[in-house]
Amino acid sequence: MLIIIIIFIVLSSNLIINCVPASAVSTIKVGDELNLTSQLVSPGSNFTLGFFTIPDSSYTYLGIWYTSDDQSRKVWVANPSTPITSNSSSIMIDPDTGKLIIASGGITVVNISDNQSGASPNLTATLEDTGDFQLKDEIDDRILWRSFDYPTNVLLPGMKLGSDLRTGRNWSLTSWLSNEIPDLGAFSLNWEPVGEDSQRLMIRRRGQPYWTSGDLNNQTQTFEFMNVNNPFSLYQYNLSYVYNNEERSFSYHRFNDVRPMWILTADGRVSNGDESMYLSFHDFCYGYDSGNGCVASSNLTQCRNENDKFSVMNGDFTPNEVESSYDDNSNISISDCMVSCWNDCSCLGFITASNGSGCIIWTGPKSTKFTVNPQGNAVQKYVFVAASKGNDSKILIWAPVVAGIFLVLFCCGLVWYLKKIKLKREDEKQLLELMDSSNTKRGGRKGSDLVVFSFADIVTATNDFTEVNKLGQGGFGPVYKGKLSDGREIAIKRLSRTSGQGLVEFKNELILIAKLQHTNLVRVLGCCIHGEEKMLIYEYMPNKSLDFFLFDETRKALLDWPKRWNIIEGIAQGLLYLHKYSRMRVIHRDLKASNVLLDENMNPKIADFGMARIFKQDETEAMTKRVVGTYGYMSPEYAMDGTFSVKSDVFSFGVLTLEIVSGRRNMSFSYLDRTVNLIGYAWELWQQGDALHLQDQTLGDSCVVHQLLRTIHVALLCVQENAVDRPEMSVVTSMLGNDTMLLPVPKRPAFFFGRSASNSTLVEEKTDGGSVNNITITQMEAR
Ligand SMILES: *[C@@H]1O[C@H](CO)[C@@H](O)[C@H](O)[C@H]1NC(C)=O
Ligand SMILES: *[C@@H]1O[C@H](CO)[C@@H](O)[C@H](O)[C@H]1NC(C)=O
Ligand SMILES: *[C@@H]1O[C@H](CO)[C@@H](O)[C@H](O)[C@H]1NC(C)=O
Ligand SMILES: *[C@@H]1O[C@H](CO)[C@@H](O)[C@H](O)[C@H]1NC(C)=O
Ligand SMILES: *[C@@H]1O[C@H](CO)[C@@H](O)[C@H](O)[C@H]1NC(C)=O
Ligand SMILES: *[C@@H]1O[C@H](CO)[C@@H](O)[C@H](O)[C@H]1NC(C)=O
Ligand SMILES: *[C@@H]1O[C@H](CO)[C@@H](O)[C@H](O)[C@H]1NC(C)=O
Ligand SMILES: *[C@@H]1O[C@H](CO)[C@@H](O)[C@H](O)[C@H]1NC(C)=O
Ligand SMILES: *[C@@H]1O[C@H](CO)[C@@H](O)[C@H](O)[C@H]1NC(C)=O
Ligand SMILES: *[C@@H]1O[C@H](CO)[C@@H](O)[C@H](O)[C@H]1NC(C)=O
Ligand SMILES: *[C@@H]1O[C@H](CO)[C@@H](O)[C@H](O)[C@H]1NC(C)=O
Ligand SMILES: *[C@@H]1O[C@H](CO)[C@@H](O)[C@H](O)[C@H]1NC(C)=O
Repeated sequence: MLIIIIIFIVLSSNLIINCVPASAVSTIKVGDELNLTSQLVSPGSNFTLGFFTIPDSSYTYLGIWYTSDDQSRKVWVANPSTPITSNSSSIMIDPDTGKLIIASGGITVVNISDNQSGASPNLTATLEDTGDFQLKDEIDDRILWRSFDYPTNVLLPGMKLGSDLRTGRNWSLTSWLSNEIPDLGAFSLNWEPVGEDSQRLMIRRRGQPYWTSGDLNNQTQTFEFMNVNNPFSLYQYNLSYVYNNEERSFSYHRFNDVRPMWILTADGRVSNGDESMYLSFHDFCYGYDSGNGCVASSNLTQCRNENDKFSVMNGDFTPNEVESSYDDNSNISISDCMVSCWNDCSCLGFITASNGSGCIIWTGPKSTKFTVNPQGNAVQKYVFVAASKGNDSKILIWAPVVAGIFLVLFCCGLVWYLKKIKLKREDEKQLLELMDSSNTKRGGRKGSDLVVFSFADIVTATNDFTEVNKLGQGGFGPVYKGKLSDGREIAIKRLSRTSGQGLVEFKNELILIAKLQHTNLVRVLGCCIHGEEKMLIYEYMPNKSLDFFLFDETRKALLDWPKRWNIIEGIAQGLLYLHKYSRMRVIHRDLKASNVLLDENMNPKIADFGMARIFKQDETEAMTKRVVGTYGYMSPEYAMDGTFSVKSDVFSFGVLTLEIVSGRRNMSFSYLDRTVNLIGYAWELWQQGDALHLQDQTLGDSCVVHQLLRTIHVALLCVQENAVDRPEMSVVTSMLGNDTMLLPVPKRPAFFFGRSASNSTLVEEKTDGGSVNNITITQMEAR
């Protein structure tokens, strides 16, 4: 009896599961209604249309999103400024007018489409696989209305910006009010004519020019800001333009299959889908010409100067000196707060209310001190940072510190002068001052603050960079061990001189890195600048790196399973932190065993993070020369197209995990007379149900079988060919940490076969089905 019941339950639950795809429709007809809980799914399941409610509110919107997007970022919203609050609303084609509407209790609450159709029983509304929602007349297959003609804040491939000269309609994007609120924000992105025959992309802030791409170059078909030095161009969008008597438009296509989208963010930037890249470099445009496409305004407010800016900092103003005021106007967004603060000479900083609208503004005397406390629980604020040049008040506040700096500078200058080395003293002074403005400390003080080391200290610490003290060669320069005069040991990374990076950028990056603090990341202690040369100072890890133990026949025995499990978890946590940290996700790009350092208790610490950001310009150039990274750890899309995302780090994590479990390097080894890499080997064992065989024999009894199998399972999910299939790090950590969580079945991974010892030839197996015996090998020139 019990068995029958169980069978019945299993059968019926199967039925329910099978029913879901069957009920996923892509079209509504006249007479159909789509209520708040139903959705349309495009025929190929690429997009979903449905209602969504913003958190902590009763506001409901109709939107479209990528079905596979785990964040469900909306690519289109039907009613951005008229949210619905009734829980009985539904979308339908109005039988009387032929319009697409949202109705509640028989009353139209939102007109989605306009009135061009006129009633007809043969109207349908279909969500296409392109993400376009189309109202059609089935009789003549005429498109009467389409969502692509009414973009919100996202440009999908195939959508247009520009003007339709036949209808007089303009296509443009409008930002959301905040990241959470779809209501119309301050910015628009347009494709605008310049003179008779050129055009450009233009971001306008409340109608005023704010940022521009520069004119489209008629010959090279590129923009000033979309070729060299722009990380966006790494993505190799195929841009297209139409210029004729009917239409002037801009659109793009994307080669590979991750979810492409250009988002006009609430703070006035254009970002790619995973917000790892920005088309425009600026945080804000302040009205002076920053050379990054920001449009100069004819008048700068008296009290603000060129290069003044706001910096995001965690900490507090000295309480008694400042006053804060709250503007609760829910129509204003972050850039409005920025402008109010910028134009108010007594304004020291601002933030928006937690849902992103309204402003809190701090005012007070210029001498007010701001105490940075990265680990405290103060809210992040945008704090006004005056440019160093000609700012008297600053010198007053920092008089003692600056005096100290001048003294040290003077001494350094003397040393340098004697050595006859070219000095960039002005720059150095500027750096120190800039760093001081974010409360960095000079000298070897304890705490979390950045320290500016003098070159002389570093030379002494490393014994003039002797070979003996060289720890290794990282992707961006050699690393040395050093010992400070107070006995502390440090690691010094000497960045290559050719980075071509300016001091201000270096400083910005450094402050960013300094803010990245996590127990599984190597801590950056400070920096040292010497003429052209820039150095990063890290804490020193006595136990060297993971590869030192993992791939050594005797040392690997020191890593039993609990230690390895701890290392895998630690790396996952560190990576998760990098990916999720604030708004700027840091993509490591070169995660590998030698970049995981071990502390005295064998806790893992990821090193070299932030290099990806520091060197973004260099890497853009390096696209043609070399892809930064290490073969064997690189995801196929990065190695092939140079495109990277958080998912390429996930791939490297998967490879690294397999290495930790097996104690073998991923790069080719022989197995059954064939050269195969570790991923391929793991996959074959998995297929044969023999995954346990992958474990390092030295693990012996220490191994926890279910944990090991789960780890291999998760690793295989991470190395899947298709970036979309790979889980994000947040999912990976819960998969590892939660024994009861059901895991999806991994798809065939990306196989890389190392061929020659040299890295100049990269060989990939095409995944055109079939078994491993039947491989097609394509040879590619490594770029
Ligand atoms: C919404 O529609 C679906 C399918 O038509 C139905 O099963 C569900 O009960 C409806 N929900 C509400 C709240 O009316
Ligand atoms: C809809 O809202 C009304 C009152 O606002 C409430 O009485 C009703 O239970 C709600 N229905 C659902 C399905 O939530
Ligand atoms: C929808 O459009 C009709 C005219 O076609 C207008 O009368 C009506 O007020 C509109 N409803 C809303 C909610 O905008
Ligand atoms: C749609 O409405 C506009 C005015 O709002 C009117 O001029 C036009 O004739 C209408 N079109 C149709 C097909 O009803
Ligand atoms: C839909 O998704 C599939 C697989 O993700 C992709 O191959 C196809 O090109 C997409 N279709 C469109 C129209 O974007
Ligand atoms: C148009 O609608 C009518 C009535 O619903 C139906 O009989 C006819 O087949 C439809 N025509 C087409 C081309 O769908
Ligand atoms: C469309 O854009 C053009 C050029 O930017 C502008 O002259 C025109 O006024 C705009 N039309 C509308 C309807 O906004
Ligand atoms: C490009 O240049 C040609 C002639 O030099 C001109 O006819 C054409 O209109 C230009 N197109 C654009 C988009 O500037
Ligand atoms: C990108 O555009 C160029 C020129 O139109 C074309 O030759 C190339 O095939 C396109 N690439 C892809 C992957 O569509
Ligand atoms: C100059 O700045 C003032 C105050 O910010 C502003 O009201 C005015 O419109 C600006 N003038 C121009 C030409 O931008
Ligand atoms: C917000 O904007 C709407 C429409 O633009 C306006 O009606 C409303 O008064 C504004 N609210 C405030 C507080 O300014
Ligand atoms: C945002 O929060 C403020 C107060 O915290 C509130 O007044 C405002 O209505 C909220 N806006 C939205 C769109 O929820």
